[in-house]
Order: sequence, then structure tokens, then C-alpha cells
Amino acid sequence: MDARYDLAGRKAIVTGGAGGLGRGIAAGLRDAGATVELWDSDRVKLEAAAAELGVAARQVDITNAAAVDAAAAAAFTTHGRVDILVNNAGILGEVKPIWQTDPRNFEAVLRVNLFGTYLVSRALLGSMRMQNPRAAIGGHPLRGHVVNIASIQGKEGMALAAAYSASKAGVIALTKSTAKETARDGIVVTAITPAAAETAMAKEISAERRVDILSRIPMGRFVEVDEVARMVLWLASDECSFSTGGIFDLSGGRATY
Ligand SMILES: NC(=O)c1ccc[n+]([C@@H]2O[C@H](COP(=O)([O-])OP(=O)(O)OC[C@H]3O[C@@H](n4cnc5c(N)ncnc54)[C@H](O)[C@@H]3O)[C@@H](O)[C@H]2O)c1
Repeated sequence: MDARYDLAGRKAIVTGGAGGLGRGIAAGLRDAGATVELWDSDRVKLEAAAAELGVAARQVDITNAAAVDAAAAAAFTTHGRVDILVNNAGILGEVKPIWQTDPRNFEAVLRVNLFGTYLVSRALLGSMRMQNPRAAIGGHPLRGHVVNIASIQGKEGMALAAAYSASKAGVIALTKSTAKETARDGIVVTAITPAAAETAMAKEISAERRVDILSRIPMGRFVEVDEVARMVLWLASDECSFSTGGIFDLSGGRATY
């Protein structure tokens, strides 16, 4: 991807970095000059992605607090700081009406998408807010950026995906809360709410549901991985300095609020 932002010297972590959007986001950050670490629980996919992108990898299950804390400590030991965190790891879970769903599925989806995002943020933000500011804007320090990958379904809700939608609504509220807590520390925390992208996650749904999802997007197409990466690049750059707590739409017109 054409690098349009200068992120030279930045240290970045992308969770779910072995997946479709994660690889695209990591490639964009790398091309802009950042040093990138992929965090993912799937060792085989992780090794392949790291080799493909030429970046570092750390196998971490983001639902395991001790493992996340250890990975965060190791990242700080390796790099001395973390400038960019992209909380991207997520799972879709079963696609069923709520009365047919398995409570263990609901718990698992919330556990990865919301609790995992919380654990990674918790493990890194304490140190990020104490690191040397990289810049000062308007007399205030700028220490880092966190970008959370939510979903349009977290804004609108979606039939047959209550757990997923609720988890992403939770990520939106987590983003706003974390942003308020770190505003004076110079950590800019935002989230994006993409519509459907043709990644592994999209392949988990039926052809009929794909048609239904596509019909809800006024532009009539899926979001490209590069389009997601480009928005994350802006949100992770110093150009994004006053939008903390912002939730950024990326849905081809499906939701414009
Ligand atoms: N694809 C879409 O249509 C779409 C739309 C909106 C939002 N999103 C969100 O974008 C993010 C990335 O999705 P994707 O489409 O690239 O999916 P993907 O399935 O290709 O990638 C998800 C990655 O997360 C990893 N992961 C899952 N559980 C984990 C855990 N416990 N610990 C660490 N890593 C874990 C997986 O191994 C995988 O590599 C997700 O949060 C998803 O909800 C996707």
C-alpha cells in the first residue's frame, strides 16, 4: 500500500494480526515506517503472516490475563515503548436467533471481542501513559494511539448475531470510557465500525446472509481491507490528535452517525 503517513520509529501492536484485516492493517503500518508486532492465538497462521509481512510475532491468547500481561511486559522490554495499539482480534460466533444460541457461544464471543480488548488495553495503557511524549500539540503531550476495531453491528445490532453485536457495542463504550481516562495523558483512543469485509470471518456466513448484508450497504459492495487499513493509519498518526473517543464509520453509507 502507498504509505501516506510517516510513522517511522513508531512501535505498533496489532492483535488478531494473523487475520484478514489484521494483516492489512499491519502491512499499512509497516509501509508507513512503524515497527510492527502481530499478536494472535493461532500459531500456524501467525507464523505465516509474520513471514509474509516480515514483521515480529507473539503468540498470545487475548482472553488469558496472565499471557496478555506477559506479552505486554515483553513488548515494552523489546521496544521501550508502544506508540500504536490496534485491538483487532475478534470472532464472529454462531449465526442463530437468540433462542437457539448456546450460552457458551455468547460467553466466548464476549470473552474474545470485549474482555480480550479490555485485557490488552489494561496491560498496555498503564505503561503507555507513563512513556516519554513523542510530540506536543496545543501544549499537551501526545504519547500514543489506540484504535479498536468494532463493527457496524455494534451500532445497529444485527439479527442472528446478538452476541457479536453486543460485544462490539461494548467495544464502542470501552473506547469512549478509555479515551476519557487517558485524554490528559496524551493517548488518543478511537474505534472504527466497518461494514462487512471479505475476510475469513465473511466466509463463515451463508451465501444468503452475504446477500442480505450486502443489500444493507448503500454502496453495494464490501469494504476493501486497504480501506480499513488507511483509516487505521490516520487514526494511529499524529494527524489524529483531538478526536479521542471518536467512533469512525466505515460502512459504505450503511450508518452515517
Ligand atoms: N470481516 C468483517 O466483515 C468485519 C467487519 C467489521 C468488523 N470486523 C472486525 O475486524 C476484526 C478482524 O476481523 P477479520 O475479518 O480480519 O477476521 P479474521 O478471522 O480473518 O481474523 C481474526 C483474527 O483474530 C485472531 N483471534 C481470535 N481469537 C483470538 C484470541 N483469543 N487471541 C488472539 N487472537 C485471536 C484469529 O486467530 C484471527 O487471526 C475483528 O474484530 C472483527 O470483528 C470484521
